[in-house]
Amino acid sequence: LVLILDYGSQYTHLITRRIRQLSVLSLCISGTSPLQSIVEHKPRVVILSGGPHSVHADGAPTFPDGFLEYVEENGVFVLGICYGMQLIVQKFGGEVTVGEKQEYGKMEITVERKGGIFRANEVGEHQIVWMSHGDEAVRLPDGFSVVARSGQGSVAAIENRSKRLFGLQYHPEVTHSARGMDTLRYFLFEVCGLAPDWKMRDVLDEEIEVIKKTVGPDDHVICALSGGVDSTVAATLVHRAIGDRLHCVFVDNGLLRYKERERVMATFESDLHLPVTCVDAADRFLSKLKGVKDPECKRKIIGKEFISIFDDFAQELENKLGRRPEYLVQGTLYPDVIESCPPPGSGRTHSHTIKSHHNVGGLPKDMRLKLIEPLKLLFKDEVRKLGGILDVPEAFLKRHPFPGPGLAVRVLGDVTEGNALEVLRQVDEIFIQSIKDAGLYDSIWQAFAVFLPVQTVGVQGDQRTHSHVVALRAVTSEDGMTADWFYFDHKFLDNVVRKICNSVRGVNRVCLDITSKPPATVEWE
Ligand code: XMP
Repeated sequence: LVLILDYGSQYTHLITRRIRQLSVLSLCISGTSPLQSIVEHKPRVVILSGGPHSVHADGAPTFPDGFLEYVEENGVFVLGICYGMQLIVQKFGGEVTVGEKQEYGKMEITVERKGGIFRANEVGEHQIVWMSHGDEAVRLPDGFSVVARSGQGSVAAIENRSKRLFGLQYHPEVTHSARGMDTLRYFLFEVCGLAPDWKMRDVLDEEIEVIKKTVGPDDHVICALSGGVDSTVAATLVHRAIGDRLHCVFVDNGLLRYKERERVMATFESDLHLPVTCVDAADRFLSKLKGVKDPECKRKIIGKEFISIFDDFAQELENKLGRRPEYLVQGTLYPDVIESCPPPGSGRTHSHTIKSHHNVGGLPKDMRLKLIEPLKLLFKDEVRKLGGILDVPEAFLKRHPFPGPGLAVRVLGDVTEGNALEVLRQVDEIFIQSIKDAGLYDSIWQAFAVFLPVQTVGVQGDQRTHSHVVALRAVTSEDGMTADWFYFDHKFLDNVVRKICNSVRGVNRVCLDITSKPPATVEWE
């Protein structure tokens, strides 16, 4: 296992992912975690991440007391990246100062010595790497040598082979470091002697074993399916382990997209053979939402209603089975559980990655259910891979995210007004289908239409109209935290707008939202 100690670099998660791409399990914890948290992972390799701090700053984060003794005694390899390298230099008695020339962006380095991180035949070789640092190591501690230097002559890589300590001033994890992956591969496999043995199929087998052992032979498990990738893959995995003692519920809240219920239920039943109860609760949700315009109020009402339906479902099961379900499956992912070191002044807390919204709107506290979270060590792309092994259809795995409150956050204002939901469904379907036909679906993170409670004057078939405006939104993003608008060509947009105005009654104007996040959010409410 490779353990990453996070010191607040924007690339820390990328290091974790790169190592997993090399088929080695890597986990990430805060760089200031107590020694015990490090020890209990029994790492073979520890990577100290970069970070925005200076090692000289007051309160600069560092590893816990006893860390250096622990790695020495246990033969653990340590690689410091950027700030992590400077920490190593400082802790062993070398000198780090504010660099005369700061180095940001693409730089060339020259390998000076065949070392632990570079192959023998790379001596004298030039590599393009990605640097991002103000401080630099100007004097190395005893026992360390320079392995590579930047074009400006500053130290770019160091090592102390006998102590198994290594440092890179640049970021091998970013794609701009052309040989970065080769360097990490060589370091992990040749230098540290790890094997590339972390495979998704093994993860699946292990998880199934763990679930089988955890859930008693008469215990029952429940799961709320949202129609999204995470809950579907989690439920499918648990179903493999315990069969029909898993009970899933899918709630039609009347806020779903065009034919969504039919499409999603067909996948659950025909493709995945999941035991799913579909609850038709459209009236329950829509009657509570009648007249409500405030976005946060809408969210709260929806969240509360989900809980109440979920409660009813658990109660019905208890009546039927004669015992309470013991466990609840959730599709929690690794980014939601990582504790990171927030950069100073960011105002972020350790839980900054945890979204305030949940697909099922939060769960009742008095349910006394124990959690099963089989995906909690995986990133989204790994969940998709796992889903593929579980035979979840590829088209399903690639579906764009859809918010828990559904179309309620896409019909601005009162969702029950007129036939807003129906109009929105039709517009959305035309937009999404056109995107699919143009082969653009997989290049877009999320695309959807928004219904505006605004009417404008138009002319259709010589008739004056006074109809609604809809907006189209398509964004690219890595994780939904930031987003850019997607650039469609004009002909595509022209066709979509014609189709919408010609076939959806009640719409005579279409706008395109080209705002990034920030300042906007992805959803309009
Ligand atoms: P925002 O609008 O916050 O959206 O920029 C970022 C991502 O999160 C989704 N989203 C939600 N998902 N419940 C959810 O399950 C919600 O209340 C919710 N609000 C936004 C949004 O679709 C986008 O992918």
